[in-house]
Amino acid sequence: MVKNSLKFSLADINLIKQYEEKINDEAASGEIGYYHLPDLGDEIIKDASEFLKERKFTDLVLIGIGGSSLGVKAIFRMLSSTPSDLKIHFLDNLDSFTYSKLLKLIKFENALFIISSKSGTTIETITLFKCIIRDFDVKNFSQNFIFITDTGSKLEKFAATKNAKVINIPDNVGGRFSVLSAVGLVPVIAGGYDAEALLNGARACRDEYLYGKNDTILQKAYHYATHRYAKINVIFSYCNSLRYFNEWYVQLWAESLGKKRGFKRVGLTPVSLIGSRDQHSFLQLIMDGIKDKTVTFIKVKDQKFVINVPNFELEFLESCDYANGFTLNEIINAQCDATMKALLNENLSIDIIEIDQLDEFHVGYLIYYYELLTSFTGSMLGINTYDQPGVESGKLILKTMLDSKR
Ligand code: PA5
Repeated sequence: MVKNSLKFSLADINLIKQYEEKINDEAASGEIGYYHLPDLGDEIIKDASEFLKERKFTDLVLIGIGGSSLGVKAIFRMLSSTPSDLKIHFLDNLDSFTYSKLLKLIKFENALFIISSKSGTTIETITLFKCIIRDFDVKNFSQNFIFITDTGSKLEKFAATKNAKVINIPDNVGGRFSVLSAVGLVPVIAGGYDAEALLNGARACRDEYLYGKNDTILQKAYHYATHRYAKINVIFSYCNSLRYFNEWYVQLWAESLGKKRGFKRVGLTPVSLIGSRDQHSFLQLIMDGIKDKTVTFIKVKDQKFVINVPNFELEFLESCDYANGFTLNEIINAQCDATMKALLNENLSIDIIEIDQLDEFHVGYLIYYYELLTSFTGSMLGINTYDQPGVESGKLILKTMLDSKR
C-alpha cells in the first residue's frame, strides 16, 4: 500500500474538479501515451523474455541519458534489497573515468548492452555507443545488443542493417515519461525482476487517482500550482534506496514544469533530499529560511533488513542511549515523523507518502503517482508539460563549437 496524507488546507473540490476532467480528457484522447503504458506491457515482456531466454549474461550495460536512463536507475536502486541476477552499469554521461573503469570491469561476451534513445540521435548516447564498438571491436550486434528507440529512428535504421534486436517506444510517450515502456521493462526483465508486478502497481495507482475517487493528487497539484510563495518542492526520502528515485523526480519535475507561458516564465523547482542525512544540512534552510518550499516526506515502512541498536552503554556517551534496542528502521522512520512535526510547527506545506515496502508493485505505483502529479500540476500551470524547447539551443551551440574546432 502507498498512502499519501496531505497536511495543508485543501481547496473546495467543486472548484478544482475541472482539472481532473482535463487530465481525464488528455488521457482519453490518446495524445499523451504514458497514461496507457500499464496496459501495453504484455508484448514487450514476451518479446524481451524470448530474446533473453536464449542468452546468458553476467553484466548489463545501459547506455542512455535523461528519460532513457534515470528511471531505470531509480528502479534498480529501489529494488536493490533483492539483488539482481546481473551487475548493472550505467553509461549516462560523457565521463572518461566512469567509461574507462567500466571497460576494465566487463567482458564483452558476458555483457548485455542496451542502447536506449527515443530520438536515436542523442549525442552522448551515440558517442558512448561508438566508443564501445571501437573498444570491443564489435562486429556482431545480434547477440548481446538491444536497441530501444522510436519506430523509424536513425538508430533503428542502423540496428536493422546489423540484424540487431530492436524494441520500440510508442511515439506518443515522451522521454521522461517512458520508464514504464520498453525503456524500463526490458532492463527490469533482464535483471530478473517482475515487470508485470511493476505495471500492476502503476495500474493500481492510475485506477485510484485517475479513474477512482481519490483526489489527493488533484489537491496537491492545485496547492503547488497556486501557492503564492512556495515555488520549491522538496522531496525528503528517508531511505538510501530512494536516492535515484529522487534524481528521476528532479528531472521529471524540472524538465516538465519549467516553461515559458507566452512572455511569462513559470516553473517549480525540485529539490531532492535524503533523510536523515540531510537533516544535518538542508533542513536548516527549510526550518528557518524563507518560506518558499513545500516538503513531501517519503517513508518506507518495512526496509527488509532488521538491524537492532545494541543495548549497551558507552562510557561518556550515555546521552545517546535513547536509541538503544530499537531497529535502525524504527529510528529512521521516527526521525522522519519528528522532522515532519517540527516543520508543521513552522506552518510549512507538508505531506507524507508512506510505502509498505520497496518491491516491484510499490515501485510501479510510486512512479505512476509522480507522473500523474506532474501532469496535473503542469495542466494547472497552463503550460505544455511534455515538451522541452529550452534544452535545444545549447545543443546547437555545441555543434557549431565543435565544428569550428576541427
Ligand atoms: O525527457 C526527455 O525528453 C529527455 O530528458 C530525454 O529523455 C533525453 O534527452 C534523452 O533523449 P533520447 O531518449 O532521445 O536519447
